[in-house]
Amino acid sequence: MENFAIAIDGPASSGKSTVAKAIAQRLDIIYIDTGAMYRAITFLLMEANIEFDQLDQIEALLKQVDFKFNYINQELHLFVNERDVASEIRSVEVTRNVSEVSAIPIVREILVEKQREIAKGVSVVMDGRDIGTVVLPDAKYKFFLTALPSVRAERRYQQNLKNNLTSQTLEEIEADIIRRDHYDSTREISPLKKAEDAILIDSSKMSIEDVIEFIIQNIYELNQ
Ligand code: CDP
Ligand code: CDP
Repeated sequence: MENFAIAIDGPASSGKSTVAKAIAQRLDIIYIDTGAMYRAITFLLMEANIEFDQLDQIEALLKQVDFKFNYINQELHLFVNERDVASEIRSVEVTRNVSEVSAIPIVREILVEKQREIAKGVSVVMDGRDIGTVVLPDAKYKFFLTALPSVRAERRYQQNLKNNLTSQTLEEIEADIIRRDHYDSTREISPLKKAEDAILIDSSKMSIEDVIEFIIQNIYELNQ
């Protein structure tokens, strides 16, 4: 079978990574979590005390960064220059700053280029905000996942509890999600937007298994 790409976009905590990972396993293809890449750049800039308007320094840092994804105990870990940053990139501080960093043109330019490179010559499922619109506009399958903000906040809250991340209340998580969605959808370059040819899935009342089955079913149907 020819190589193909599946693009999954949507707002924060809409289930993209969980669904993308499951689909990658079911179809035995590569999963690329582009949100993790933006989070990693945010973490590295903060660690190096580089301000978000120091564009020359940001560009220099971006040019030295090499990304690799590897599974450890069934969890996808992002390695930056061989360093595992999987837990660092989920911190509240990174989450608070990631939308601002993601709106910087040079950050998007270089990360989009890297994402396309990773996807070249292989079958992939890639999730993010601009995959169906900008990164892989020719992807054979495109989905846009969403759910009510209150539902997404509750799901992120439960997910955090499971991972022992207890510093934020449910209300704080919901406020953060709403703020980030607004920032991501209103930025000038590659805003969060459903591609015209993407299939919309509102999972407010669907289980994660329902969403996975719906997508797999659609892929088979589109292939008929
Ligand atoms: O998992 P969660 O929905 O909290 O966020 P994420 O997918 O890890 O993405 C973190 C942030 O990265 C988003 O809020 C966007 O600002 C940015 N992002 C982006 O701009 N473009 C992408 N393709 C993926 C993420
Ligand atoms: O990657 P993204 O930020 O879009 O979301 P995620 O991290 O995959 O999903 C956030 C949480 O919501 C996870 O714990 C999922 O298992 C859960 N979820 C759910 O319970 N039911 C859904 N229909 C979608 C997501």
